[in-house]
Amino acid sequence: MKLFPTRLFISIVILSLSSCSSAQKKKANFKKVTTLEQKVDSIFNLMTLEEKIGQLNQYNGFWDITGPVPKEGQAAKKYEHLKKGLVGSMLNVKGVKDVKALQKIAVEQTRLGIPLIFGFDVIHGYKTISPIPLAESASWDMEAIKKSAAIAAEEASAVGLNWTFAPMVDVSRDARWGRVMEGAGEDSYLGSQIAIARVKGFQGENFNSNKTIVACAKHFAGYAQAESGRDYNSVDISEEMLQNVIFPPFKASVDAGVRTFMNSFNELNGIPATASSYLQREVLKRDWKFDGFVVSDWGSIGEMINHGYAKDGKHAAELAMNAGSDMDMESVLYVEHLSTLVNEGKIKETDINDAVKRILKVKFELGLFANPYKYCDEAYEKATVGKKEFQEGVLDVAKKSIVLLKNQNDLLPLKKSGQKIALIGALANDKTSPLGSWRLAADENSAVSVLEGLQNYKGNTLTYSKGADVAVGKTQFIFETKINETDKSGFTEAIALAKQSDVVILVLGEHGLQSGEGRSRSDIGIPGVQQELLEEVYKVNKNIVLVLNNGRPLAFPWAAENIPAIVEAWHLGSQSGNAIAQVLYGDYNPSGKLPMTFPRNVGQVPIYYNHKSTGRPSIENKDLVFWSHYMDVDNSPLYPFGYGLSYSKFDYSNLSLSSNSFDKNGKIEVSVTVTNSGKVTGKEVVQLYIRDLIGSLTRPVKELKGFEMIELKPNESKKVTFTINEKTIEYFSANKKWEAESGDFKVFIGTNSAETIEADFKFNN
Ligand code: BGC
Repeated sequence: MKLFPTRLFISIVILSLSSCSSAQKKKANFKKVTTLEQKVDSIFNLMTLEEKIGQLNQYNGFWDITGPVPKEGQAAKKYEHLKKGLVGSMLNVKGVKDVKALQKIAVEQTRLGIPLIFGFDVIHGYKTISPIPLAESASWDMEAIKKSAAIAAEEASAVGLNWTFAPMVDVSRDARWGRVMEGAGEDSYLGSQIAIARVKGFQGENFNSNKTIVACAKHFAGYAQAESGRDYNSVDISEEMLQNVIFPPFKASVDAGVRTFMNSFNELNGIPATASSYLQREVLKRDWKFDGFVVSDWGSIGEMINHGYAKDGKHAAELAMNAGSDMDMESVLYVEHLSTLVNEGKIKETDINDAVKRILKVKFELGLFANPYKYCDEAYEKATVGKKEFQEGVLDVAKKSIVLLKNQNDLLPLKKSGQKIALIGALANDKTSPLGSWRLAADENSAVSVLEGLQNYKGNTLTYSKGADVAVGKTQFIFETKINETDKSGFTEAIALAKQSDVVILVLGEHGLQSGEGRSRSDIGIPGVQQELLEEVYKVNKNIVLVLNNGRPLAFPWAAENIPAIVEAWHLGSQSGNAIAQVLYGDYNPSGKLPMTFPRNVGQVPIYYNHKSTGRPSIENKDLVFWSHYMDVDNSPLYPFGYGLSYSKFDYSNLSLSSNSFDKNGKIEVSVTVTNSGKVTGKEVVQLYIRDLIGSLTRPVKELKGFEMIELKPNESKKVTFTINEKTIEYFSANKKWEAESGDFKVFIGTNSAETIEADFKFNN
């Protein structure tokens, strides 16, 4: 049967979807297409099996589209696939010019003219870079986080992109794992709120505006639980942990309307996540009713051969499709094998149909059928990328992400005049490192350095000395970012400078490329010779402000003990130096709180506040050994989850409950009074934790269940009230369902997970 003129037919269908006249509709003689399902079917019904499989195929940007067309090799093959309509999506194509050129091939040269969807890792910005996600999470400010994602979406959409592979919502408790920088830290509740904020920031209310892009919750699931914190390593965890700890941010993303999911590289309890029907078909698509699509992680379908789960590429394609992985990112296995597998009866065509429809649906939602070039306007691209408002937005969230860890004798904020200030550390004068990992489109040297930020304050004398390099070789993908373990040639100058200064600001930590994918570390101390530099400077001047740059919790017990002021400044993005300077000078009063526990040493890892009690949690006579502890380090962390100081001082009092029990469908209110007894106005994140004392499964010693950010003037007090109901206390129980069990509970409110005041209540189911 001759299908011509199908492209024409599609354009008629598309016209009908928007604005064609009734005469046109009559002439086209097709059924009225109104619902999304009908729109999808109107295309789907025209597709051959090969074309359907093509939609499930995603390729990396494979040749310089503005250059000559490839004639041989992989690129030539992919180009042929593109022209035949065997590609549904591309990733890593940068800029309107290239997006447009590729889209033109898909729309004008293929039989059905189905537009491509263009994906990119817009993890914390496209060219204008926000703080790394872990840093942003420290703001506990959902509006700021949402806005930062919205900025990223607006800038990315202006370069022709319509899909980001973010947010990463993996709950991560192991600081050795380099990708903790990409997530929201160790807590499922905070992680869920942040997942919602980021999904909504990227996707907006809908895709009608050209400024929103599709989000992707990843990596489903368990990726952050890699054994020993080594990236891509095996994961073996219980269903209880999956349900109670790992799944909630993913479920929250679905409820917030996320349109895509990405599966993960790891095996989970013996089955690679890519081949897990449990995860993709049962939990995600059946139980959570997710109706978007799942993309594999890069090559994860093919990697099942290395896992020892698939015997070859064909087998891998069969396993992944049967398990519900809808789109193949760069394994090139679906396009090679799915057709044969259908013919052999090894996979059902209905499963392919389901996957295709999911992808077409998202393309329709994006409006790509109505206008495949809706994101492609070169003049708009030029006017939008890097614009001033974006810089102001990322500066705002960068300030809010900084966490004040220590401030003995009010060394901070710095006096604005009359001071001799020494600025030491290679990171202080680095304009690339603050961009952090995962900023594929940002320009090198485009961040404001700490030196530049401090130079805006003219009242003091500021002198810079490098002291020591942090890393040698810094490239994004090839692991050349080696720690400097030997070169101390800059020590002498730095020490001499410190000696003659009133205050020393040392900027130390990890280079931006020392965390991220594939960048696990077994030693999480301050890297290389920097620790020694710190100790040497301390010998000549104790007035030190240590500014840390890092993509993960670091262990720095010596500094915590000896250095009077410590500021956690992560990798804060394009406006890093300005944000840090404003905090150091008190123009922004720090309000961040740690989203991950900071350990005393790497041996404590994984360490997290919401652990279980054990049968031997403590003992009165500490000389006895038979209790759950280490012989060489305390159980407590260096800095607990939720911790962060301010230039204000907040006091908590009057914890009160509206009742000391509630029944099914009932609730209680718990309130506390917070007073600013400091001298300046400041913001505080008031945190609510709960403990379920006895459960059908053992319950964590504390779990975050609410938080509220308040601002208080000096001597001002505010009453903060939280509501506790059945939903607040439910969990995935021994009955294998989410439920609230009757019994006794404790409620804690405080400034962090370790410093709280508490009360008791009962719940009767
Ligand atoms: C990462 C994903 C990322 C993908 C595409 C993979 O290596 O695990 O998170 O989205 O590459 O760049």
